Amino acid sequence: MFVSGRRVKKWQFVQLFATCFILSLMFFWGPIDNHIVSHMKSYSYRYLINSYDFVNDSLSLKHSVDGATRYQYLINHEEKCQAQDILLLLFVKTAPENYNRRYAIRKTWGNEKYVQSQLNANIKTLFALGTPANPLTREELQRKLVWEDQVYSDLIQQDFADSFYNLTLKLLLQFSWANSFCPHAKFLMTADDDIFIHMPNLIKYLQSLEKIGVQDFWIGRVHRGAPPVRDKRSKYYVPYEMYQWPAYPDYTAGAAYVISGDVAAKVYEASQTLNSSLYIDDVFMGLCANKMGIVPQHHVFFSGEGKTPYHPCIYDKMMTSHGHVQDLQDLWRDATDPKVKTISKGFFGQIYCRIIKIVLLCRLTSLNTYPCRAAFI
Ligand SMILES: *[C@@H]1O[C@H](CO)[C@@H](O)[C@H](O)[C@H]1NC(C)=O
Ligand SMILES: *[C@@H]1O[C@H](CO)[C@@H](O)[C@H](O)[C@H]1NC(C)=O
Ligand SMILES: *[C@@H]1O[C@H](CO)[C@@H](O)[C@H](O)[C@H]1NC(C)=O
Repeated sequence: MFVSGRRVKKWQFVQLFATCFILSLMFFWGPIDNHIVSHMKSYSYRYLINSYDFVNDSLSLKHSVDGATRYQYLINHEEKCQAQDILLLLFVKTAPENYNRRYAIRKTWGNEKYVQSQLNANIKTLFALGTPANPLTREELQRKLVWEDQVYSDLIQQDFADSFYNLTLKLLLQFSWANSFCPHAKFLMTADDDIFIHMPNLIKYLQSLEKIGVQDFWIGRVHRGAPPVRDKRSKYYVPYEMYQWPAYPDYTAGAAYVISGDVAAKVYEASQTLNSSLYIDDVFMGLCANKMGIVPQHHVFFSGEGKTPYHPCIYDKMMTSHGHVQDLQDLWRDATDPKVKTISKGFFGQIYCRIIKIVLLCRLTSLNTYPCRAAFI
């Protein structure tokens, strides 16, 4: 008894020591390496509690937003969705000055006519934006936007300043527009204007989902249990008053994600009852979806921050890739070339592409594009 008692004490001592050690690490290194500590906290939180019901109450508005506080449309196209069979409503988040990006998108992945004639599907592409934020150039830029819209008829603009900290207003614009003017679209996608979307692959995928009548569908690159940034110097800094918990509910990166029409309606409903002062739009979307009990799915071919490697074996499966501005038109031409599909055909084609993908994606120094696992799909 005596011996085992001592053993227990020794064991308890080790445990106590380890706990103190970790706590002191957190305490002393906290200010230095906040990032790691907050991730440790967020993960333990996520796996211990693993439910975000608490988020529900405290972020709720006392009364829901009324029409008067909503922003007016300065440019709108109510008639855009008149056709009945719309597979995809595609919103591109853009800034007033990004004319060149919109121009390139219209010629490539945002091209409704291409999708209609080559892929046999109806999509509607719209650019969501606020008003020019800089008062010095505001009037001139606004005039240019009106001209641009007269040519292309694809801008949707509301009367709020277009800035990073107003991104949630842009999200609300998209959901409320979809709810009012395009509730019958089968899917809704929201994308940044510096992204590449492989439309042939995406449309084929969505057509197969439509056939089985998918619901509660939300796909993209999922951030699981991400901690809020508490470092004041960061662009993504969120004070405790705004969000008090150590982890966000799961959400998809705002650069590009797709939801089904029923999810769009539910998220819109939730967005009317949540405090939208949280300016990180994809996190806000996560909170709305969480409130409605909708969980995001991860798709390995939705990219992270990095550009995907240029290679036909990658193009064969890719959905989105981030950070394409100068190279957008070249990539579009190469990636949608019908020859891409032949390279991975047959036994040797499959082996060849498997090896190429392993070499390109399974590197130790991550490029933050597709995960290594994508090489085996
Ligand atoms: C967001 O838009 C509103 C309305 O235009 C404006 O008053 C506010 O300053 C904007 N916020 C930021 C951070 O730009
Ligand atoms: C929303 O939350 C902010 C704090 O982040 C608070 O100042 C504001 O009053 C809230 N708005 C409403 C309408 O509840
Ligand atoms: C959120 O809270 C409301 C009441 O505040 C409740 O009716 C609703 O069921 C809650 N939703 C979830 C998903 O827990």
